[in-house]
Amino acid sequence: MGKRVAVIGGDGIGPEVVAEALKVVRAAGVDLETVAYELGGAHYLRTGEVLPDETLAALRDFDAILLGAVGTPGVPPGVIERGLLLRLRFELDLYINLRPFRGKGLDFVVVRENTEGPYTGEGGVIRKGTPYEVATQGSVNTRMGVERCVRFAFELAAARARKHVTLVHKTNVLTYAGDLWQRTFEEVAAEHTDVSTDYNHVDAACIYLVEAPQRYDVIVTDNLFGDILTDLGGAVTGGIGQAASANLNPARTGPSLFEPVHGSAPDIAGTGTANPIACIRSAAMLLDFVGEGEAAARIVRACTEAPPSPGASTSAIGDAIAFAVTQDLTKEP
Ligand code: NAD
Ligand code: IPM
Ligand code: MN
Repeated sequence: MGKRVAVIGGDGIGPEVVAEALKVVRAAGVDLETVAYELGGAHYLRTGEVLPDETLAALRDFDAILLGAVGTPGVPPGVIERGLLLRLRFELDLYINLRPFRGKGLDFVVVRENTEGPYTGEGGVIRKGTPYEVATQGSVNTRMGVERCVRFAFELAAARARKHVTLVHKTNVLTYAGDLWQRTFEEVAAEHTDVSTDYNHVDAACIYLVEAPQRYDVIVTDNLFGDILTDLGGAVTGGIGQAASANLNPARTGPSLFEPVHGSAPDIAGTGTANPIACIRSAAMLLDFVGEGEAAARIVRACTEAPPSPGASTSAIGDAIAFAVTQDLTKEP
């Protein structure tokens, strides 16, 4: 039976790149039932709705969710990012944010913790608007949350050729959270004697990602460091327009969510210049996760083998990859 996928185009370039991803999925001949959901900043400005409880309940019944990007200038920061995207990640327990990077001769993957750290919303403000204003925003790190993320990273590394995991943190300053991460990492490492390990402080990791990124195989890190490092990862492996991600519920107690690493790019929205490859690759990760691995592999091959001609439009890139996918179909095995 065909899989059911909820599609949230979102804002800015989101709907533009999602259209190309669906074009490529269709070209791959996959039988998907898609249901579109109008959500995001523009929808909020029109209706006042961010993520109604009934919509969240309906989303739980899908096999997967494909999201373009959300966020609109004119909506206060955080309303949509926290109220829609982070709410989905937290409520659906999408505790792994998997961000693979392939390009420029590099092949590494970031396993980003996706439900904790400074993202939880812990903290608050008092005396707002006065000279005595106080704002706190804590980082929440639980043994359970850290351990399930670290375990995922080691299991992933064990299945890869180089079998190497680097913990990235800031243990020299964030001593409470860093110590929890470090001890958990070492304990899980002891169970995986076939996987070699390393540790980098996050500031040094920024140097190495630019100057010697080939040292990395699997990086495991907290939510905020992972956010920052993965924009950098995109930039050093061919551009943010190619960087895909999967927000996974590995226990499969509900749908996982697939989206590009990039945002709604209001600076280029409507110009037809957004690179759809990040979204196309995210759709391939979706297909792989729902049991359509063969179609996923064909799409990944098409993305690699049909590089866009310089200056190609969003839809021209989608067309070229869709065509390459259909050609691959007829290739001798
Ligand atoms: P952004 O990722 O949208 O854009 C950063 C830069 O990268 C811009 O110059 C943009 O033009 C470029 N870029 C991004 N995607 C591209 C693509 N596919 N092809 C070519 N160029 C591309 O980050 P931002 O400007 O900081 O954020 C804009 C909005 O998006 C904000 O509201 C932010 O909160 C939101 N955001 C959403 C998501 C998401 O929905 N998953 C992710 C990141 C940011
Ligand atoms: C990302 C984005 C999100 C994040 C925002 C939009 C909440 O930057 O997916 O990388 O910080 O995780
Ligand atoms: Mn980000």
